[in-house]
Amino acid sequence: MRELKGLILSGGRGTRLRPITHTSAKQLVPVANKPVLFYGIEAMAAAGIEEVGIIVAPETGDEIRAAADDGSQFGVRITYIEQDAPLGLAHAVLTAEPFLGESPFVMYLGDNLLQGGITELVAAFRNHEPDALILLTAVPDPENYGVAELRDGAVVRLVEKPGEPQTDLALVGVYMFTPVVHDAARAISPSDRGELEITDAIQHLVDGGRRVEPHIVKGWWKDTGRLEDILEANRLVLDTIQSRVDGELVDAQIGGRVVIEPGARLERSSVRGPAVVGAGARLVDAYIGPYTAVGPRCVIENAEVENSILLEGASVRGLAGRMESSLLGRNVTVGRDHRQPRAYRFMVGDNSEIGIL
Ligand code: TTP
Repeated sequence: MRELKGLILSGGRGTRLRPITHTSAKQLVPVANKPVLFYGIEAMAAAGIEEVGIIVAPETGDEIRAAADDGSQFGVRITYIEQDAPLGLAHAVLTAEPFLGESPFVMYLGDNLLQGGITELVAAFRNHEPDALILLTAVPDPENYGVAELRDGAVVRLVEKPGEPQTDLALVGVYMFTPVVHDAARAISPSDRGELEITDAIQHLVDGGRRVEPHIVKGWWKDTGRLEDILEANRLVLDTIQSRVDGELVDAQIGGRVVIEPGARLERSSVRGPAVVGAGARLVDAYIGPYTAVGPRCVIENAEVENSILLEGASVRGLAGRMESSLLGRNVTVGRDHRQPRAYRFMVGDNSEIGIL
């Protein structure tokens, strides 16, 4: 088999993560203070893949290029491929065809996280040499996913978001293909939602007698397309971090798995892990509860924060209640002042969500 290439899909609309995606790519939302996208690139590097193509949208391409650069920080070579419009995963494959050429490849959705990486799967793909290899996992709500039906261990049918799912086996956002997928992607028509669906392309392979090998994933898999999923991914990754304190503690307590990055300063504060506090962050009279990722240069003062993600430069000050299960974008400020009359005052962008519980 030729050398495997990698293809990471980081275009798309990201409508389910507005307003974050109004100004930024969802694949750069940090999980445990590292962009989701980087986990996919690292998984490819760990599996020995050297050439990685990243599909980007015109609006967010520059930001993704700036973050992942030429790939040398991961030990891979990155080529950026612009997809004019988010016309589907199979459309993204066709857009990448000049980059992929005749190479077999691993396709990885840029907002997905797969515990345990892809090294074993790449080995299975190389050894068994199927035409395609798909990953499946049982989910409680298969109607929200591409679903696979198997017979005698072989894939017989794939349906995108079925009204009445016949199985609970959802397609995980990591796929392995030989170049036959390009003809399959060309042969299919757009779905009702106007996208060239990768499930239809794979179904086309099955119908044409190609061998599509299913693998049930062992560890967890997370698609971070929605807020609750990002928070869960953050919890899953924070559960695995190694404690490290490089910042400054002044009358501060920490317990459990906690990373305090260099330049962070904690005064009269306590952090109960798993949690990370980014470089240059400042915590004063604050409590950080489990499953919180505080981004670089954030400020938390006279406030309690738990099970939340704060992007770079966000600040939370003077809250009477604990802030929880929240995602704050870059430089967002949440705070209280003591002017009268007491009232809530907001300046929030389109599609923001505010919960006062
Ligand atoms: P999705 O999450 O299915 O789609 P989306 O990004 O448009 O999000 P939403 O449904 O909230 O509007 O996409 C999965 C991944 O694939 C994600 O990283 C974006 C990427 N993608 C592309 O690169 N090109 C595409 O045409 C599509 C549909 C998605």
